[in-house]
Amino acid sequence: MKTEILKLLRESQDYVSGQQLCETFGVSRTAVWKVMNQLKEEGYEVEAVRNRGYRIVGSADVMTQEELESLLDGRTKWAGQHVVYSDEIDSTNIKAKQLGEEGASHGTLVVADMQTAGRGRRGRGWDSPSGSSIYMSIMLRPKFPPVKAPMLTIVMAYSVARALRTCTGLDVQIKWPNDIILNGKKIVGILTEMSTEIDYINHVVIGVGINVNTETFPEEIADKATSLRIEIGEVQKRAPIVAEIMSEFEKCYEEFEKQEDLSFIQEEYNKLLVNCGKDVCILGAKESYQAHALGINETGELIVRREDGSKETVYAGEVSV
Ligand code: BTN
Repeated sequence: MKTEILKLLRESQDYVSGQQLCETFGVSRTAVWKVMNQLKEEGYEVEAVRNRGYRIVGSADVMTQEELESLLDGRTKWAGQHVVYSDEIDSTNIKAKQLGEEGASHGTLVVADMQTAGRGRRGRGWDSPSGSSIYMSIMLRPKFPPVKAPMLTIVMAYSVARALRTCTGLDVQIKWPNDIILNGKKIVGILTEMSTEIDYINHVVIGVGINVNTETFPEEIADKATSLRIEIGEVQKRAPIVAEIMSEFEKCYEEFEKQEDLSFIQEEYNKLLVNCGKDVCILGAKESYQAHALGINETGELIVRREDGSKETVYAGEVSV
């Protein structure tokens, strides 16, 4: 009921009367009053006016199951329509994989306020303190063959970059293949894990970690990482960012399902690519060399031009910038 009350209050232009809430949800005045008190405790500014009713006039950075559900309800068809929220979890990727094995629906979204065993790429950890960042993982059941799945990471990176640009108005960029960069520093990390057979995918989990209100970072990454709060100078709300990402991702995923390649975002992705038109270092099996990055092709590999003018496509893991 709290999710529905939140949605009703948020969408209403005017006060919503206690009577209307009681009738809509078939509950007593006391039950409505209790929900309003809970909302206030969670950080919503609820205005209650005699003979008129209730109105939400503002809120802090509230991250709860109900906040996420009420923002996603009606916004997407499947992405984030089943939300599993925890205040504390080992890793949202681990939970999403477990839910995938237990038969959860395509698009199930796991979100946590804090992770005790956050995972990064290449076996690294992902520092995941409470109250400051977004830790989310979406579980997907793609119908396309396993060989296409790595492209999903690029679809997610593109969706996150677009969502952050919409939510903040900032010049958020992508560092190939899937780091999100703001003012030259990393703001988002993406970790994709999948369970496959030779010819089909059981499920894919795409985990996204976003530094939203982080004020300080561990020493080893302090000069390479930043957060929205640091760059903007004020606290940002996390739940609307999650909802915007789900909306962007659903649109892009559906297009990707039709085309099974990245040609529909290739041009736009390349515009957001921080490496585009820059020299990168290619770490080949036999040699390492400098080359000029030209952008991704329709399957997500980076096209580079060598000093002798020849063009090559390189794969993730072969490039350092
Ligand atoms: C990277 O190393 O750049 C990828 C980091 C991915 C971190 C996110 S946070 C949410 C999800 N759960 C995890 O344990 N990892 C990912």
